[in-house]
Amino acid sequence: VIRLASVILGVLVFLALASLAFIYSGLYNVAATTPHTDIVWWALDTLKVRAIKHRANAIAAPRLDEEAALRAAGQYHFACAPCHGAPGFARGQMGDGLNPEPPDLARSLARWSQSDLFWIVKHGIKFTGMPGWAPTHRDDEIWAFVAFIDRLPGMSPAQYRRWTGLSRQDAQGETVVTRGGEDPAALACAICHGAAGTGGGEIPRLAGQSRQYLLETLRQYAGGTRRSGIMEPISRALTSEEMESAVRHYADLAAAPRVGSGDAAALQRGGVISAAGVPSQRIAACASCHGIAGRNANGTVPNLAGQPAAYLSLQLRLWKTGVRTDSPMREIAARLTEQQIVDVSEYFARLPQEM
Ligand code: HEC
Ligand code: HEC
Ligand code: HEC
Repeated sequence: VIRLASVILGVLVFLALASLAFIYSGLYNVAATTPHTDIVWWALDTLKVRAIKHRANAIAAPRLDEEAALRAAGQYHFACAPCHGAPGFARGQMGDGLNPEPPDLARSLARWSQSDLFWIVKHGIKFTGMPGWAPTHRDDEIWAFVAFIDRLPGMSPAQYRRWTGLSRQDAQGETVVTRGGEDPAALACAICHGAAGTGGGEIPRLAGQSRQYLLETLRQYAGGTRRSGIMEPISRALTSEEMESAVRHYADLAAAPRVGSGDAAALQRGGVISAAGVPSQRIAACASCHGIAGRNANGTVPNLAGQPAAYLSLQLRLWKTGVRTDSPMREIAARLTEQQIVDVSEYFARLPQEM
């Protein structure tokens, strides 16, 4: 037995030394331009799939509706399509040279669940060129990417241009709103907010908001005190003239059509919360700060009238769960129930934008 053990030990030591020698020798070819051998590819791919499924198993996917998908669409074109391509757009040269190749997401996703996709986009995949987006993006923003890529199969190039807002961008445009800033990272605001500033879904309306609030908010994104993987890089890339010009454009826009729906009982409950608060839960009347009809003259407090309901409830949930921390709203949102968040958001979304 002792002899057998020493033979095995000898073999193991030999293998370890041989592997070390191989690693140091420089013989293994790491060129991305040389394909993996079948066995190495099998080992790496299996390792990857097992590792991802094992970790993503415990993640529960939220409901991923169209509103979430639309929030990420505009950024997908600039952050992901250069490697992965998109309907009507071939991937860029950088994507061509990667090994493993970045797959065409409209075709490749069958083997992944939504939770797997969330894990992949959040953490990235080592040694592949697929970046992790967790350092820059909130979890709800990463879910928005999942909602969007889930809808890529079957999306036509025309639909893609509509969803990403590219059809709203105007290369000949004169302003930062329609054309974007000098720095290409300063995307044209119209892609997502629309030139008329109506927003929609989880993208906020900017039209008619005070200059002071818009400017202050952009500075918060730029300084990283208000976190958003979508708005931070855009705000940081704007020069102060561009920032002011965009703010002037949106603050001076007249009211645009209202959005939002909701049943009469919900609207009524939301109206009561706005006017009187909820004394039993120590929640102050929203109107005391935001104004009686969701509009107020205090430039630092945003107008809520006509803001898309999905955006309002998204922000309230971010405060409630402690993701957004920067404001008196944190405590107020923490005390609101989920039903109250829905009711009050529907209520403000329906208020006319004009007094
Ligand atoms: C620098 C290039 C690059 C960028 C930018 C990039 N990816 Fe990837 N991505 C890759 C590569 C390479 C792979 C393949 C990894 C592999 O096969 O193991 C990949 C894999 C994936 C996968 C798994 C697909 C599959 O079928 O296995 C998803 C999902 C994904 N990326 C989503 C995204 C999203 C969403 C974005 C933008 C937020 C993005 N990627 C940005 C390079 C990139
Ligand atoms: C790729 C899409 C996209 C583009 C382009 C974009 N935004 Fe945004 N914007 C968003 C999203 C999504 C949010 C909500 C972020 C959050 O959750 O904090 C937002 C939020 C904002 C807010 C906060 C509004 C509020 O009520 O608090 C302001 C102000 C803003 N954007 C201004 C701009 C300006 C100005 C530009 C152009 C220079 C621009 N955005 C370009 C998607 C975009
Ligand atoms: C004490 C004053 C105060 C009260 C009361 C108040 N808010 Fe706010 N609210 C603010 C301020 C200030 C902001 C701007 C965010 C910040 O702090 O930067 C804000 C922002 C918001 C936003 C984000 C709007 C946007 O465009 O991003 C929502 C949604 C909101 N409040 C909803 C409510 C609701 C619903 C109530 C009542 C239940 C309420 N607020 C009560 C002061 C208040």
